[in-house]
Amino acid sequence: MKKLALMLALAGATALFASDGAGLYKKCASCHGAKGEKKALGKSAVITGWDVAKTTTALNGYKDGSYGGAMKGLMKGQVSKLSDADIDALANYIHGL
Ligand code: HEC
Repeated sequence: MKKLALMLALAGATALFASDGAGLYKKCASCHGAKGEKKALGKSAVITGWDVAKTTTALNGYKDGSYGGAMKGLMKGQVSKLSDADIDALANYIHGL
């Protein structure tokens, strides 16, 4: 019983973490601005309020190399370790900025 409760608690914590768009966005803010209002390194579009689908396409595209401009290699490093749930949470968070 104890083991089961622990597993449930861990699963809950993982789900919470996975949907923490604000927490995930912290490492993006240094380049994109706290509200996504900056052109990252003077190169990216301003991403404030982007559609969830648009951000999801961009982030998945950076991951598989199908999206981006001259500095897409840099963004690949940013997103390569993100799960689908992380990308979803980030896209929703950015949409609300
Ligand atoms: C070290 C600076 C840096 C960090 C950190 C960073 N980005 Fe970027 N981001 C860029 C640059 C530069 C571009 C433009 C890349 C290109 O040439 O396509 C970009 C592009 C983007 C785009 C597409 C914008 C466009 O112009 O099409 C999105 C969306 C994005 N970043 C989201 C994120 C998210 C979400 C994170 C955090 C997980 C993040 N970025 C972290 C620098 C950064």
